[in-house]
Amino acid sequence: MNIFIASSNQGKIKEIKAILADSSLNLLSILDVFELQKMGIEIASDFDVIEDGKTFQDNALLKAKAYAIKTGLPTIADDSGLEVQTLNGFPSVNSNRWFEGTASERNLALLDLLKDKTDRQARFYSVICFFDPKNNSVQFFDGEIQGKIASESKGSKIEGFGYDPIFIPEGFNQTFAELGAEFKNTISHRRIALAKLNQYVLQDKHLGQLE
Ligand code: IMP
Repeated sequence: MNIFIASSNQGKIKEIKAILADSSLNLLSILDVFELQKMGIEIASDFDVIEDGKTFQDNALLKAKAYAIKTGLPTIADDSGLEVQTLNGFPSVNSNRWFEGTASERNLALLDLLKDKTDRQARFYSVICFFDPKNNSVQFFDGEIQGKIASESKGSKIEGFGYDPIFIPEGFNQTFAELGAEFKNTISHRRIALAKLNQYVLQDKHLGQLE
């Protein structure tokens, strides 16, 4: 069962593939150049979708639909972000867009916004959209993980991406980047949403519809 991952973010692609590694889904992305070529699918490595939706759902649907139309394959898209309680949920859907610079610089900028705040409560939220171009069907699955923003950035760049070095999941005292990708993938917002997706596509009624 081929499913395309609608993303140009290598961190996300890697995580989605790792989380669904034990499922029977064959996950493809823009990084699988040779496999796509064999299937007669052409998609540029810089294929991009303008994410101008107002919600995570809007943007997940925009991405899933655009990649599905381009590849002809059932497609999943993740739209996700960090929501900080004391900043009224900021940066939320704009997690990837509110700051111009590297992920490390962005983390420092967020820590700076919180420098006088004692309330460090935050959550990661992920919406996965599944779009099947054969019948234009759309499904959404979501997941969240509560936690707090660390006082400083900690953990290896190799272990995780984006805000991972400044997010401490509830019940732990290390950041996602310190805890490591393998552990993060057992509890994360994305894991929760993808587990729901996996259950959906493997339901009897969908077997046979997807090849
Ligand atoms: P988008 O879903 O492509 O709009 O990007 C979401 C933004 O939130 C990106 O800047 C990511 O770095 C960040 N983000 C989403 N999920 C995670 C995560 O699991 N860890 C760290 N950062 C994340």
